[in-house]
Amino acid sequence: MGSIKLPKKSIKFFEDHYKEIFKEGALAEGKWNKESSNLVRQFTGIEHAVPVSSNGTGMVAMMQLMNHLYKRDCVLIQSNTMYGVLTMVNAAGLKIKGVIDCDTIFLVPNISMIKKGVEQLDRKSKNRLIILLSHIGGITNPWIEEIAEYCSRENILLLEDCAHSYGAVMNNKHTGSYGDAGVYSFYSTKAIFSGEGGMIVTNNEELGELASKYIMYDRFDRKLEVANNIRQSELQALVLTGVLRQVEEIISNKQLIAKEYIECCELLGLEFIKQDENNKGNYYKFILSSDQESVREQYKGLKKVTSKVYDYALGESKEIIDSHVCLPIWYNQEKNIANEAINELKTVFTEQIK
Ligand SMILES: Cc1ncc(COP(=O)(O)O)c(C=O)c1O
Repeated sequence: MGSIKLPKKSIKFFEDHYKEIFKEGALAEGKWNKESSNLVRQFTGIEHAVPVSSNGTGMVAMMQLMNHLYKRDCVLIQSNTMYGVLTMVNAAGLKIKGVIDCDTIFLVPNISMIKKGVEQLDRKSKNRLIILLSHIGGITNPWIEEIAEYCSRENILLLEDCAHSYGAVMNNKHTGSYGDAGVYSFYSTKAIFSGEGGMIVTNNEELGELASKYIMYDRFDRKLEVANNIRQSELQALVLTGVLRQVEEIISNKQLIAKEYIECCELLGLEFIKQDENNKGNYYKFILSSDQESVREQYKGLKKVTSKVYDYALGESKEIIDSHVCLPIWYNQEKNIANEAINELKTVFTEQIK
């Protein structure tokens, strides 16, 4: 992992405004929380955006609210996701009822995997179900439209874990707007990063309103039995505001690195997770994935790759661990890093261009 650098304009924005926070004594629940929420609402077109301290705190909040409002205490998660997704469900006091397999190329569940996961449940669990779906690697799950339709037909709530996918858009829709709610992460290593932080988004009026009460213990209305302080500080929200103003710059910077990898993969005939006009991601990761055993064997010898999306899997099937590798790609990455990765790919996969 290289050092994490914020865009210069984001740092300047912070420097230009942080003194106001101290001068006005507005260290909490102030204008930068509102401003970051407004920027996310404008950018994504999603009606409610509630800043929170992390993706994890936002996800726990949404699961607890889904249980409170709609009596949902059973959750399916996917095999290729962060271990913390499992702990979040437990922290929310809900039950994990199964782990859905993931496609070995896109590393997320397809519609038939989702159906299979649901069909093995008893009727009672199915009626109280949330599917917690993580978009992986910075692009929208390509089956999300069918999955969302299926969930709404079957009266299943869909919670989108958008920790990787701020700025990812499929057919003009942002992740977080397909299901009943979504949560972004702005943690340091994420595609769009401000150190720490997250944002709950939803078009559901009830969930949106209750989320903004949950994050401050519902201390004015005092109706919720479960709530917490999961807000962002104003200083953190100011950093985030400066970053959100540079989303396009961050993504286009990474697109330039991706362009070099794409040329190399096309030359070598290597498969990678593609983005296109209909499914545009943020290049959180640049992922090579393959169904071919021989290619997977060659992945094992690569040294210039970064860590896997996850080097573990939560379900029974562990195939996704070996089916992919990630090439280094981060904002303002030094030029030689991509060059070295490309040279190594050319050396290892030479047979294919001979
Ligand atoms: C898929 C996924 N979900 C959720 C999270 C949690 O994000 P945060 O650190 O903001 O709580 C991560 C971060 O590592 C992640 O990779």
